[in-house]
Amino acid sequence: MSAPPEDRRAAWTPPAAGPARSGRDVPGALNGSRLFEQPRYAAEVARFRDFVAGDAPLAVEVGFDFGHRILDHAHRWPATRWLGLEVRQRQVDRVAAEAPPNLLAWRADARTVFATLMPAGRVQRVDVLFPTPWWDEGKRAKRLLLTADFLADVARALAPGGVVHVATDVGPYFSHVEGLFAAWGAVPHPPVGEARSRRERVCARDGLRVWRGTWTPGVAVAAVSGGAGGGGDDVG
Ligand SMILES: C[S@@+](CC[C@H](N)C(=O)[O-])C[C@H]1O[C@@H](n2cnc3c(N)ncnc32)[C@H](O)[C@@H]1O
Repeated sequence: MSAPPEDRRAAWTPPAAGPARSGRDVPGALNGSRLFEQPRYAAEVARFRDFVAGDAPLAVEVGFDFGHRILDHAHRWPATRWLGLEVRQRQVDRVAAEAPPNLLAWRADARTVFATLMPAGRVQRVDVLFPTPWWDEGKRAKRLLLTADFLADVARALAPGGVVHVATDVGPYFSHVEGLFAAWGAVPHPPVGEARSRRERVCARDGLRVWRGTWTPGVAVAAVSGGAGGGGDDVG
């Protein structure tokens, strides 16, 4: 019998650090981390490159699922390009069907996109809401999104002042994330619209505690004071 959800959340542990990643290859990536090098994928890669080209602010939401939030944001801030990365084809198709021109819903493993395709210094904002904790230890070791390797790739992709916003209802996962961001600076959370993600709604409905943090590379933590939240805090 599996543990009740509360116990399961409290018992979560990060995977043991594996060997250093070799180059840009991402172990366990969806369809392989060399996917974007395959000729049959050239048109998709061109679509991505067109979308991220230019000077318009670029925001990324990783794992948008039903897309309530990214659709709201894309309509609310039309001058920003909103790139949604999601591994589930059905969710990508659903969001793509409703997407305004400043939103690209792309089926890809975010780890591969940041490791191989994302131009350096291009992204203003990365939102990671309720990343999958992967209860199965084997899957967790292979697929956990928020790792030192992923954050190194994200840091390279961020424009000066760019931020990463993370929310989760798994407390130990948040502790792991705080450790990963220890050398970054805590900053106020980026603005959000009214729409809530599916998991945000579930947490609000069930009264689950949610931890949130927003960080930027290269800012001394002591230099940040006040503001609307920021760093590691919890709500709900
Ligand atoms: C727990 S759900 C949370 C969904 C949504 N953000 C929310 O707050 O309700 C995690 C989502 O991330 C997606 N996902 C998991 N690993 C991913 C990866 N490496 N790249 C992109 N999406 C991923 C899953 O398919 C799923 O939709």
